[in-house]
Amino acid sequence: MAPPSPPPAFLLLLLLLLLSAAATTALAAAANSSLQALQSLNIHLPKDPCSPQAAAAAATACDAGKPFRHLTSLRLANCSPDEVALSFTALKSLSTLQSLSFLDCPVAPVRFPAELAASLRSFSCVHSLRRLTGVWLSRLKNLTDLTVSDVPINASGLYVILGNIKNLRSLTISRANFTGYLPRHWDLNISHIDLSGNQLKGPIPSSITFLENLQMLNLSSNALTGEMPAEIGNLISLKNLSLASNSISGSVPDTMSAIPGLVHVDLSSNQLNGTIPKFFTEMKSLTYLNLEKNNFHGIMPFNESFIKKLVVFKIGGNSNLCYNHTVMSSKVKLGIAPCDKHGLPLSPPPAKGDSSSADDSSSSDYSDGDGSDSSGKSSHHHGPNKVVLGFAIALSSIVFLIVFLVLLSRCCK
Ligand SMILES: *[C@@H]1O[C@H](CO)[C@@H](O)[C@H](O)[C@H]1NC(C)=O
Ligand SMILES: *[C@@H]1O[C@H](CO)[C@@H](O)[C@H](O)[C@H]1NC(C)=O
Ligand SMILES: *[C@@H]1O[C@H](CO)[C@@H](O)[C@H](O)[C@H]1NC(C)=O
Ligand SMILES: *[C@@H]1O[C@H](CO)[C@@H](O)[C@H](O)[C@H]1NC(C)=O
Ligand SMILES: *[C@@H]1O[C@H](CO)[C@@H](O)[C@H](O)[C@H]1NC(C)=O
Ligand SMILES: *[C@@H]1O[C@H](CO)[C@@H](O)[C@H](O)[C@H]1NC(C)=O
Ligand SMILES: *[C@@H]1O[C@H](CO)[C@@H](O)[C@H](O)[C@H]1NC(C)=O
Ligand SMILES: *[C@@H]1O[C@H](CO)[C@@H](O)[C@H](O)[C@H]1NC(C)=O
Ligand SMILES: *[C@@H]1O[C@H](CO)[C@@H](O)[C@H](O)[C@H]1NC(C)=O
Ligand SMILES: *[C@@H]1O[C@H](CO)[C@@H](O)[C@H](O)[C@H]1NC(C)=O
Repeated sequence: MAPPSPPPAFLLLLLLLLLSAAATTALAAAANSSLQALQSLNIHLPKDPCSPQAAAAAATACDAGKPFRHLTSLRLANCSPDEVALSFTALKSLSTLQSLSFLDCPVAPVRFPAELAASLRSFSCVHSLRRLTGVWLSRLKNLTDLTVSDVPINASGLYVILGNIKNLRSLTISRANFTGYLPRHWDLNISHIDLSGNQLKGPIPSSITFLENLQMLNLSSNALTGEMPAEIGNLISLKNLSLASNSISGSVPDTMSAIPGLVHVDLSSNQLNGTIPKFFTEMKSLTYLNLEKNNFHGIMPFNESFIKKLVVFKIGGNSNLCYNHTVMSSKVKLGIAPCDKHGLPLSPPPAKGDSSSADDSSSSDYSDGDGSDSSGKSSHHHGPNKVVLGFAIALSSIVFLIVFLVLLSRCCK
């Protein structure tokens, strides 16, 4: 007796199940080796590292390779050294990665396999991997973006890294206790350099001004000395410049006036001297100008309307600098004294604590500005007087109205 043939609906279902199983297997195979590698590193991801869930969990990305997709991007964040351990063999299976980033992962660093070192285009390490060396970083030859922050780096100089990585477009090595001098040769087409918060010493080499595509240069909080390079005006793409908190002396070079697109200029806390150049007033894109805590002298060349256009303006802590009170109301708290008729500071400038707190409010501490060029003293009383007058008029009209209504109601009874 033949068994009763199964209903066609059941067959269809079976087929569907089989198909979906096959699809799942294919998917699993896709990034299987990377998944295994990740598992051996104790990094747990959803089954398919190319899935949206994995992308959300570890910023993974995959290429569209056939038959297998390759893992191209991975971010590890907040990992504990007890859980995650990097191993050379596991990293070998991840050599398709183009972007790798560590954030708050203080695991021990290992040597990267040559394939991985060569394939990485972007490497970021923020408060991770405990300690790095210049030689270790210099093996990442194909990088365009390098970020190392809050990780100590032992290297005899920046040239160790830059000499090897020729395609670098963006370099950040900040708060890394990085020592040594800035390189004399910059054989790069780079647009972003942030070396803030290290222990770099010596002068800023004039060769840095050959970087004509440089848009952002941040050398703040180092121990740099000497003068600003006279040729700084060659940096025609520069938008953001900070040389703050170094020991840079001399005056601001005139060539700087040739940089058309400056947005952010911070030269604070140095030993710059000479007069403040007027050309800043012609920089149409400028929104941030900090020249405080230097040795500038003479009459500050800016008027109130220029300062009001800026989002941040700081100039305090320059004890030989003064402002012309006929072009600047004393309401604008600058932390510097008004000039006498010889162009010298009239009274001793406010105490240090005073000036810095005044600076903080300097950009928002303006009067409503009736546009009058009157001296500070009289404009001080403009506002309050108007308010009091208005209030008095309003009050008296109300009283008058009440009296009038009362009288009206009495007489018309
Ligand atoms: C994927 O890797 C697992 C081990 O993690 C293995 O058991 C399985 O057979 C692999 N699948 C394919 C399709 O290669
Ligand atoms: C370096 O990057 C370029 C551009 O993405 C790529 O074509 C090349 O294959 C990479 N080199 C290696 C060794 O991966
Ligand atoms: C840099 O050195 C200082 C003092 O030696 C230390 O306190 C700081 O933690 C170091 N920074 C890093 C990122 O290691
Ligand atoms: C840094 O590197 C130098 C040699 O390049 C070595 O002598 C020194 O011990 C290293 N310092 C640390 C803290 O690793
Ligand atoms: C340098 O980089 C800029 C973009 O920052 C690019 O437009 C230019 O073509 C590059 N020049 C060379 C020689 O690679
Ligand atoms: C430079 O770096 C410091 C510290 O990292 C930061 O506070 C500042 O905003 C940066 N300046 C510019 C112009 O990027
Ligand atoms: C400015 O500083 C430079 C370098 O320290 C010095 O040679 C020069 O005499 C100073 N100029 C003025 C006007 O103080
Ligand atoms: C450049 O400066 C502007 C204005 O202060 C700021 O908004 C912007 O984030 C800065 N860009 C970089 C890359 O630091
Ligand atoms: C303020 O200075 C700028 C630039 O020097 C000038 O164009 C403008 O006319 C001045 N404004 C006033 C009110 O003096
Ligand atoms: C202050 O500015 C006014 C108007 O521009 C000018 O006449 C005067 O000479 C200036 N005072 C000083 C000390 O430069």
